[in-house]
Amino acid sequence: MKICRTVQELTSITEQLKQENKTIGLVPTMGALHEGHKSLFVRARKENDIFISSVFVNPIQFNNKEDFEKYPRTEEQDIKILEECACDIAFIPTAEDVYGGQTPETFTFGQLEQVMEGVQRPGHFSGVANIVSRLFIWSKADKAYFGEKDYQQIAIIKDMVRQKSFKIEIVPCPIFRDEDGLATSSRNVRLSAEARKIAPKIHQILLESYRQKDFLSISQIKAFVEDEFKHNKNFVLEYFTIVDDKTLQPVSQREENQGIVGCIAVWLDGVRLIDIQRYW
Ligand code: PAF
Repeated sequence: MKICRTVQELTSITEQLKQENKTIGLVPTMGALHEGHKSLFVRARKENDIFISSVFVNPIQFNNKEDFEKYPRTEEQDIKILEECACDIAFIPTAEDVYGGQTPETFTFGQLEQVMEGVQRPGHFSGVANIVSRLFIWSKADKAYFGEKDYQQIAIIKDMVRQKSFKIEIVPCPIFRDEDGLATSSRNVRLSAEARKIAPKIHQILLESYRQKDFLSISQIKAFVEDEFKHNKNFVLEYFTIVDDKTLQPVSQREENQGIVGCIAVWLDGVRLIDIQRYW
């Protein structure tokens, strides 16, 4: 595996690869790699001649300084995992190299960012779009792989691709869960042992609401989930929003054939966890 630490190094290699007509798959990450990332790596490896992964904790997508500082950084371990997953190129740049001297672009996403993460984390998606758009250009990837836990992020990235007329396929990948149902996340390592035991409750509550979906209205599903968290004092629910799966606008009633997803952000032990549940 080749480790590229500068944009220049990466772009000269990808230039050459494109001249050789190689297909390139990209998995952008912020490191602290876990089983969820590995499931994306397996797909990227299988579906492309060349598999590139980036490891970069993108400062401009954090609207909370403490969250940025506390974000786990495990570069040595990440490199080992990437090697085990048969990655061809690990791109591990510095912030100076990615943004040095340039003012980040301001992206806007209309209604897509006026809900959920977009409301709770102002500027977050513009920060994500800045790094992801750069990674797409530098990697010259044909396909890029993202986990569906960050459901709104995928919709935003698809819109960014449309705005920029990039020729790249966005591949959403199913959430990878630990055996007890907790969605894998780099933030899980920050949970105390006690909190880690409680955390699967998030998925359990969402699953229970899914089982009742044919007997409850959408607002009753929402009330059920909110109530469950209200009665469990370990959690502080930030939002649970039931949305159209494409527009991400909250729905109160389901139209025929409409895809519906519930998105949740909840605090446990000072750690912010997100998850989703598809209803239809
Ligand atoms: O989902 C993430 O880990 C990040 O938002 C991403 C896509 C790597 C951009 O920094």
